[in-house]
Amino acid sequence: MKTRISVHRDFRIGRIDDRLYSAFIEHMGRAIYGGIYEPGHPNADANGFRKDVLQFVKDLKIPAIRYPGGNFVSAYRWEDGIGPRDQRPVRLDLAWRSKETNQIGINEFAQWAGMAGIEMMLAVNLGSRGLDDARNFLEYVNFPGGTTLSDLRQSHGANAHGVKMWCLGNEMDGPWQIGHKTAVEYGRLANETAKAFKGFDPTIEAIVCGSSNDRMPTYPEWEREVLEECYENVDHISLHKYFGNTSHDTLNYFGKIEETGRYIQTIGGVIDYVKAKKRAKNDVGICFDEWNVWYHIREEDGRRIKSWDWPEAPALLEETYNFEDALFVAGLLNEFIRRSDRVRIACIAQLVNVIAPIRAEKNGPAWRQTIYYPYQFASLYGRGDALNIAVDCPTYDCATADDVKYLDVAGVHNAEEGMVTLFVLNRHLTEAADIDVALTGFAGASLSLHIAYEGHDLRTGNGPDQPDRIVPGPGQGIAMQDGALRGKVAPLSYHVIRLSVQ
Ligand code: AHR
Repeated sequence: MKTRISVHRDFRIGRIDDRLYSAFIEHMGRAIYGGIYEPGHPNADANGFRKDVLQFVKDLKIPAIRYPGGNFVSAYRWEDGIGPRDQRPVRLDLAWRSKETNQIGINEFAQWAGMAGIEMMLAVNLGSRGLDDARNFLEYVNFPGGTTLSDLRQSHGANAHGVKMWCLGNEMDGPWQIGHKTAVEYGRLANETAKAFKGFDPTIEAIVCGSSNDRMPTYPEWEREVLEECYENVDHISLHKYFGNTSHDTLNYFGKIEETGRYIQTIGGVIDYVKAKKRAKNDVGICFDEWNVWYHIREEDGRRIKSWDWPEAPALLEETYNFEDALFVAGLLNEFIRRSDRVRIACIAQLVNVIAPIRAEKNGPAWRQTIYYPYQFASLYGRGDALNIAVDCPTYDCATADDVKYLDVAGVHNAEEGMVTLFVLNRHLTEAADIDVALTGFAGASLSLHIAYEGHDLRTGNGPDQPDRIVPGPGQGIAMQDGALRGKVAPLSYHVIRLSVQ
C-alpha cells in the first residue's frame, strides 16, 4: 500500500492541553480497594498503598485523575470518608450493589495522588444530594483554615488540597443514575452549583455532564438543553464513550475511531450554537472524561452484579485486553490529538483493575495490559502542538464510518524539546504501508526513536503469568533519506516515531 504524508511546521491544530492524557478511578470493584490500596500486600507501603501499582502509574506521567466516580458518586456522602478510620460507616454502594467501607476518602486519595504526581479532578454528588453538600465538600477540600469545615480537615491532618477541576455530577442523563434528571432540571442545578463554586474561587474549572454516550435517545439535545441553562458558568462539557468489537470485525472496530471524531464534532457544533444564541464570550471545551474499551466481560458482569449479595470490593469489569484493543486505543488517542482544539481534557476509564491499563492480583503481582503502552506513549511524547497532517492513502467503508484511512496518523511538535513525534497506526489487515513523509519547515531532521507495536496475535493479551507477552519493541525499516522519512510499516501495527528537529 502506497501512502504519502505531509508534515508542515506551520500547519497546526493548536497547543495540546497536557490534561488530554488524564485518567479516571472510581470507588468500584477492585479499583481502589485491591487496586491502588491493599494493606498487608508484600508491596504495600506503611499506608497500605501498593508500590508496584504506584510505579506503573508514575511511569504513565498522568496529569490529572477524576475521582471518586462515576455512578458511585451519585449516592456518595463525602463525609463518610473523613476522620478516624475505625469510626467510618460502611454503606451500600447502590450503583454497583457492593459495600463501601470508606477506608479511603478524600484525604487518603489526595495523599496517593500526591505520591503519583497527579492533580485531582473531583466529582460532586448531584444525584442524591445537591448544591449545599457540594459546596461544603469544596470548602472542606480547598479552604485553607479558620472555618468549621476547613478546621475539621486540618484536624484530620490534611492541608488544603487546592483542587481546580470539579465535575458537576456524573452521567445525569442516564436512567440508571441515582438521582437521574431531565436536562433542564440538571442544567439548572449544574448552573447554580457552578456559580457557587466560582463565587468561592473564580479560577475553578466546572465540568458539566454531557450525554453518557452518543447512542442515548436524548443525545445531542441533552447537551443543548443543559448548556442553555449553564453555558456562561461552566468551562467544559463531558463526553463518555466505551468501545468494543462484539461483531469480531476488526476494520469496523477501528472505524469507531472516526465515529468518535463525529461525536466530538457534533458536540463542538452544539457548543458553538449555544454560545452564539446566548451571545456568550466564554468558550466551553470538551472533557472526554470516560473512554476505553469495555466489552469482553460486560454481559457476564451484568449477570453477576444482579446475583450477588452486596460484597466488598468484588472483582468487577476486570477486562483482559488484547493486541487488537491496544491498536484501537492507539488510534483513539490519535483522534484526541487531532481533535485537541476541542478536547482539552480526556480520562482513560479507568486506571487499575476496573477496565484498566494496570491490573493487580490480590496478594499477587501487578502487570501492564496491552493498552497501557499506547496510552503511555501518547502521554510521554504527545505534548506540544498538534500538527495538521495530510495523509494520502487507500480507504475503506464499514458500518461505523466511510472513507476510513488505512493509515491513521497524528503528529505533535514539541518546540521546547526540538522534537516531532508521529504516531502511526496501520489498520490494514494484510498489507504493509510504504510510508513517505515530507517534512516542511523542520531543518536537519534526524530519527531519534522508533518504537513498534507489531507482530502479535490480535486476540492475545498479557496476564499475571505472562505479563510481558504482548509488548512493544524497537522499530526497524524506517529512516531519513534525502530530507524525507521513508520506510515500511507492517499490517496491524502501531509506531511511535520521534524526529529531532531544529
Ligand atoms: O466506568 C464505569 C462506569 O461507566 C462509570 O461508573 C459510569 O460513569 C459509566 O457508565
